[in-house]
Amino acid sequence: MTNQGTSALIERIEATAAKYPNQKSAIIPALHLAQEHFGWLPPEAFEAVAEALDTTPAFAQSVASFYDMFHLQPIGKHLIEVCTNVACALNGAGAVLEEFEQQLGVHAGESSTDGQYTLRTVECLGGCGTAPTVAVNNRYREFFERSQVKPLLQELKATPAGWTEGEGQV
Ligand code: FES
Repeated sequence: MTNQGTSALIERIEATAAKYPNQKSAIIPALHLAQEHFGWLPPEAFEAVAEALDTTPAFAQSVASFYDMFHLQPIGKHLIEVCTNVACALNGAGAVLEEFEQQLGVHAGESSTDGQYTLRTVECLGGCGTAPTVAVNNRYREFFERSQVKPLLQELKATPAGWTEGEGQV
């Protein structure tokens, strides 16, 4: 069942899928569009993707669950991802993560109670040469140091729109 909001989403997905050789091959951009629409991927998102691509919600969910970039749970207004893979770990990612946890009062994998922040660790962001690398609302902060955590959080507090999923995609 669709409502006016999801109808518009389905139309966007269908328009994107028309650029692909077959509908299912548009599953990744379709999931991005759905995540942009809902802020995360609730069951209604998989239903909309399935309807637009003439597949099943289970297929859409199975693809989404494979990729770290898709959120199967609600996330905060600001998404902070600290890379803890080797290059970042060797350059102080542990201290950066610890500072975020202390400042936000959450552990990695959790959201702040006010719904403003989600903190999580990620595997390599592809910014090893500028480690430690932190992705904040999908934008990289390179050579990130523990001392930069507090100023960053102050900066984000003053930022009206946080999350930028979908910018430049599809
Ligand atoms: S190891 Fe952190 S960006 Fe590659």
